[in-house]
Amino acid sequence: MLTRRQLAALGATVLTEAALAQRAAVTGPIPPGTIWLNANENPDGPPKASLEAMMKVLPMAGRYHYQQFRPFYSTLAASEGLDASQILVGAGSSEVLQCAIHAFTGPGRPLIAANPTYESPMAVAEAANRQVIRVGLTSAYAADVKKMVAEADKAGGGLIYFCNPNNPTSTVTSKPDVNWLIDNLPRNTVALIDEAYYHFSESPNLESAVRRVKEGRGVVVSRTFSKIYGMAGLRAGYVCARPDLIEKMTPFRNNVISIVTVHAVLAALENAPALLAERKAKYNRIRAGVCDFLKSKNVPYIDPHANFMMIDIKRDVRTFAGGLLAKGVAVGRPFPPMDGFLRVSIGSAEDMEKFKRVFWEVYSA
Ligand SMILES: Cc1ncc(COP(=O)(O)O)c(C=O)c1O
Repeated sequence: MLTRRQLAALGATVLTEAALAQRAAVTGPIPPGTIWLNANENPDGPPKASLEAMMKVLPMAGRYHYQQFRPFYSTLAASEGLDASQILVGAGSSEVLQCAIHAFTGPGRPLIAANPTYESPMAVAEAANRQVIRVGLTSAYAADVKKMVAEADKAGGGLIYFCNPNNPTSTVTSKPDVNWLIDNLPRNTVALIDEAYYHFSESPNLESAVRRVKEGRGVVVSRTFSKIYGMAGLRAGYVCARPDLIEKMTPFRNNVISIVTVHAVLAALENAPALLAERKAKYNRIRAGVCDFLKSKNVPYIDPHANFMMIDIKRDVRTFAGGLLAKGVAVGRPFPPMDGFLRVSIGSAEDMEKFKRVFWEVYSA
């Protein structure tokens, strides 16, 4: 673990909490009873088993419990069919994404990122004075793997970042494209594939890149407990990668995560297949209801594969989102250059009933 001063000496400026919070923040007066469809969270929260496990461990939270972390890492790694040396755990995937930026970008090694996508890695790289090359999505809103590889080749190396499914478009980069990218990484290049929303997708076109980690390829895959597991406030995420890549990222980590969170994660993992299947089915059903509504109103949207979707409102999203917030619906931030699209998270069935009503009031005004 490095101190902030050592990080700064390495040119690895840490993106502050304030800067991260500002990204997800909703600005403007917030009416009472506002529904939160802005940060792709899961309104169900942590599963019951995790709540019980946390209650049990809370009285013991006076100690660090360092001795529990090795077995925890082994259990978590085993849930992906990996060894503890192939994962790195952080306070949310944000922390381990930062580690990857610090470890794999540098002078002459830019960050090459899909655009638009989850912006935090770009903000981290820019804060650390790294070059950021943004590569527009394809016409199907997938990562343009050919262009990204060409940019890495031109630069003589770098870190290629995209999300699969992508935030904000809720679209999938296909199996063949992801595999082509991994098979054609130029020298000095690592691929960072963010699978934060992987478990929501039913697309036969989506394959996790963890399989390629197992083959020893130059790919780092990030996952989080913030989304389908409903634990955003508990802060747990991890990356999967070859042991030598994990070793390069490890110095940029900040101590262990909360022991309370560790127990929540372990309890959730015990029943993960059933939990994930149930939550995926539930939110995809609610999302299908929103799609049907939009179709009935002739409002175009991008076919979604995660717990959020992009609606083509064909007008400035800043003004539109302000209109929704005034009526108690908080939605996602703008994602330039897609300024005429609105990103809305899929909340509870009740939330989405309110969303549909308020959306139509503002849209048809
Ligand atoms: C694609 C993607 N990756 C990573 C994150 C970071 O989430 P966390 O740090 O809570 O794991 C988010 C949060 O919205 C996200 O959308």
